[in-house]
Amino acid sequence: NTESNSSRGALIVLEGLDRCGKTSQSGRLYKYLDEQGHSVESWRFPDRNTGVGQMISSYLANKSQLDDHAIHLLFSANRWEKRSLMEEKLKSGTTLIVDRYSYSGVAFSSAKGLDIGWCKAPEIGLLAPDLVVYLDISPEKAAERGGYGDERYEQLEFQKKVAGSYLALRDSSWKVIDATLSIEDIEKKLREVVLDCMMTCHKGKALSHLWP
Ligand code: TMP
Repeated sequence: NTESNSSRGALIVLEGLDRCGKTSQSGRLYKYLDEQGHSVESWRFPDRNTGVGQMISSYLANKSQLDDHAIHLLFSANRWEKRSLMEEKLKSGTTLIVDRYSYSGVAFSSAKGLDIGWCKAPEIGLLAPDLVVYLDISPEKAAERGGYGDERYEQLEFQKKVAGSYLALRDSSWKVIDATLSIEDIEKKLREVVLDCMMTCHKGKALSHLWP
C-alpha cells in the first residue's frame, strides 16, 4: 500500500493584509520547492474558477451586492468545495502552498462587525494548516505600495480593521515575518520555516482539523 508507506505533504498557509506581498512570495516559494524536486502545488482562496468562486469574484469587483453573512458563507463554501481534493493531494505526498485560507475569512468578515464565533463556525472541520505564515505590514505601509486596485476591501480604513482582526486570531503557532524586509530576506525566512514544517509532516505528523 503506497499511501500508508509514503509520507504526506504539508498544508502551508500564507496570510496578511492586501498588498503584503503574499502572492509574489507564494510564487517564489513554489518555484523553489518545485526546482528542489518536491511535489508541490500553489493554491489560493478565493478560488475564482468554481461557480461559487465566480459569485465571490463578482462581489469583490462590486458587480453584485450580497449580505455580509451570505458572502462570508460563500467564501467558506469555496473552501469546502476544495476540501476533499486538498486531503487527497496532501495524503498522496503533495505539499500545498495556499495563499489565504480560513483566517482571511474570519479576519475580513469580523472586520465588518460580524461576531467572531459566528465567523469561525462554518470553517469547523476543514483541514487545519500545518503552518500559518503571517506577512506582517502596517495598513499604512501596505497602502503606500500603491497597488490597491478597485476591489471592495482595498481601502485603508477597512484594512486597519482587518489588521486588528488578524491580531485577535494570531496564536503562538503562527510564524510572523516582517513584510517590509527585502523580497530576498522574506523569501529566505519563508523557506526556513516551510522546510522545517515539511520535515515534521514527512516524519508522520497527523493531519488535523479546524479549529485546533
Ligand atoms: P485575493 O486578493 O487574495 O484574491 O483576495 C480577495 C479578497 O477577498 C481579499 O481582500 C481578501 C478577501 N477574502 C475574504 O474576505 N474572505 C475569505 O475567506 C478570503 C479567502 C478572502
